[in-house]
Amino acid sequence: MADEKVDTQVIRAPTGTHDVLWPQSSRWEALLAAFAVRARRAGFGLVLTPMFEDARLFRRGIGDESDVVTKEMYEFVDRGGRALALRPEGTASVVRAFVQHHPTTPWKAWYATPAFRYERPQAGRFRQHHQLGVEVLGTDDPDLDVEVIALAAGFYADLGLRRIDLAVNSMGCTGDRPRYVAALRDFLAGRATELCSEHRDRFSANPLRVLDCKRPECRAVTEDAPRLVDFLDEACAAHLARVRGGLDALGIAYRMEPRLVRGLDYYTRTTFEFAGLALESAQNAVGGGGRYDGLSEAIGGPPASGIGFGIGVERLLLACDAEGCFAVDPPAADVFVVDLTGGEEARDLVDGLRRAGLTALRAYDGRSIGSQLKQADRSGARYAVIIGAKELETGVVTVRPLRDEGAQETMPRAEIVARLTRLSGAG
Ligand code: HAM
Repeated sequence: MADEKVDTQVIRAPTGTHDVLWPQSSRWEALLAAFAVRARRAGFGLVLTPMFEDARLFRRGIGDESDVVTKEMYEFVDRGGRALALRPEGTASVVRAFVQHHPTTPWKAWYATPAFRYERPQAGRFRQHHQLGVEVLGTDDPDLDVEVIALAAGFYADLGLRRIDLAVNSMGCTGDRPRYVAALRDFLAGRATELCSEHRDRFSANPLRVLDCKRPECRAVTEDAPRLVDFLDEACAAHLARVRGGLDALGIAYRMEPRLVRGLDYYTRTTFEFAGLALESAQNAVGGGGRYDGLSEAIGGPPASGIGFGIGVERLLLACDAEGCFAVDPPAADVFVVDLTGGEEARDLVDGLRRAGLTALRAYDGRSIGSQLKQADRSGARYAVIIGAKELETGVVTVRPLRDEGAQETMPRAEIVARLTRLSGAG
């Protein structure tokens, strides 16, 4: 026999990923359904795109120098020698699909997707997280910025979240950003010694990154830094004014945050971020987005304005836990069939009940009556349908209410599906 070691180590989910098991996943189902309703109401349709793309899409779309691309992207070469990457976010793929299929504009798409980033895992930060998002392509109408922000804000409210902070900024456009970056670079050069160790020597290539730095040294310096909103050209300033006016008109509370630059390089004009104030501040961004008027062209498409947001599902649920809202009970069964005659009756009856639209469960492996009734109780079903030898012989079943006081009844086997459908209101 070959002297080979057999690998018997228990295999676990990779670091920074997690399983969501039933019944906790009921909350995910409910979340997705709530988001789909909101998105549909605003004219968005579901879009599905591949989980991996040509790696150049993200490099060109998100930015060659961004942390997401240089430090966090999962890249691989497939068996055909193609350089691919797992999607680190949803926007670039949706814009790629827009460019590839040129749908009628404005094109409003929503999505629910896993996203992959090689980050240091910690509470609220994972290597695979999930995003609910929307993108609108084909117009730069500032009213759409308001619509998109209102959609996210309304969704948080639907879940019962109260402690949500909305920060808004404008990243300017290609015309005014270089002037600002130059001014910021000059400012930082004068205070370089006060910056954190990461940025002290390396602020010059991309001074905007310093605004995003959470370290106290950089925070203190950028407190006094020039503000992008003061450098906007006339058109960008008017755009921002219209967005702010819209938010005010719709009663959406927000604050201007001149240091909000976000980590992806495609943003232009409106940017925004929602923070869950009940969460630890380092990982409290429960959603963010903005306008990306140059992204389509950056990936080889026609000029096309776009705006959207991504909401992190895991963080959102953590925020709900912290605020004690959006508790979702797993859906209870309608009927639990207890068969003491060998299982054929249960097999046929659950099938009939399910065809009629009821949630019907049963036990397996010829369990005892005690064990089956215990399972029935645990399932949360409203009724137990009991079939013993006597019932089988006389063509009846016993129906026992499990959740209310009603009396146990015996009814003809032939009528049970129709009667239970009526009783449970599924018919
Ligand atoms: P983002 O801010 O990078 O934006 O991510 C959106 C949200 O995903 C964050 O606010 C956060 O809730 C969640 N998130 C991000 N990274 C992680 C992680 N490692 N672990 C857990 N949650 C995370 C985008 O991805 C843009 N595509 C949003 C967008 C859409 N902009 C325009 N359209």
